[in-house]
Amino acid sequence: MLVLGLESSCDETSAAVVRMEDGKREILSNIVASQIDVHRLYGGVVPEIASRAHIEAISRITYEALDTAGVTLADIGTVAVTSHPGLIGALIVGVNFAKSLAFARGIPLVAVNHVKAHVAAAYLEYPELRPPFTALVVSGGHTSIYSVGDYTDFKVIGATRDDAAGEAFDKVARVLGMPYPGGAEFDKQAYLGDKKAIKLPSPALLGDNLDFSFSGLKTAALNYINGARQKGEEPNVGDIAASYTDAIVKALTKKTLAALKETGSKRLVLAGGVAANSHIRKALSESCASIGAELYTPRISLCGDNAAMVAAAGYYEYLVGNLSSTDLNASANDNI
Ligand code: KG4
Ligand code: ZN
Repeated sequence: MLVLGLESSCDETSAAVVRMEDGKREILSNIVASQIDVHRLYGGVVPEIASRAHIEAISRITYEALDTAGVTLADIGTVAVTSHPGLIGALIVGVNFAKSLAFARGIPLVAVNHVKAHVAAAYLEYPELRPPFTALVVSGGHTSIYSVGDYTDFKVIGATRDDAAGEAFDKVARVLGMPYPGGAEFDKQAYLGDKKAIKLPSPALLGDNLDFSFSGLKTAALNYINGARQKGEEPNVGDIAASYTDAIVKALTKKTLAALKETGSKRLVLAGGVAANSHIRKALSESCASIGAELYTPRISLCGDNAAMVAAAGYYEYLVGNLSSTDLNASANDNI
């Protein structure tokens, strides 16, 4: 079956055509129109600007995805759209566009949870991958560990109590003068410094839980930077990036290993925009190898927001009969 995926939950408008069949998962097109250049002027995503940019792009991007795949709407078996969580105005654009397209053409419509879609990116990378497994989703909005029992069955077993890892990277990167979103540049800077240079608190919560808290780490780094500046010194960016990244990597590794132990799972899916971080990928790959577990992480272009992952997740919602009707609405909430 060909699935048309649509994504507009944050600052990328994306449309994709994916072929999903038993034993075959193939991306025919995956067009991503990023709004980063516009939001960069403001140092972060401006919701109203994001909604307008989605409206301007979505129709063009959708037909570009169909053209690139060499198909028309008549070939599409299901339309899958991100309906939650995300920026409400941005989500509404995708949901209403998907509804119009699906109901005008008599194509089944499925609503997709953005976090489940991040995990589904791994199905496109590894055609043999099947649940059950444990998943760590690290993005601009999430830092959560899931026990994935089946394609549509997710149980949250760990989560951040405040900021997400992506927000934590972006905030400190911004204060250090890196353009928004600073995660990728921060990744590079971390190779240039000493990870033992600055002592920072761990974002892994103490105790018998799989939860995180990034606010203390973030505040400690900001205090360190401000303290240095007040003394007229410019802090060493490489040292901060290396020490800060190390604190995040160690916390993610510790809680993920505990999650694998708790679930008894030998398979870990690492997904979400922050899963592009090379230090996190390396550490989790080594940790998984040390306990005989397999790491499944999508290529970088499938880690960030894209519609191919939405199409993949939507296919499995379709298979279990989770079809949506004309009353489908977007929601900012993260009800998995
Ligand atoms: O999944 P995503 O594209 O959007 C959300 O669903 O939030 O994630 C975006 C986040 C941003 O915070 C960005 O800075 C971060 O992913 N990111 C990275 C890297 N590449 C992107 N963070 C750390 N290291 C990277 N290499
Ligand atoms: Zn995302």
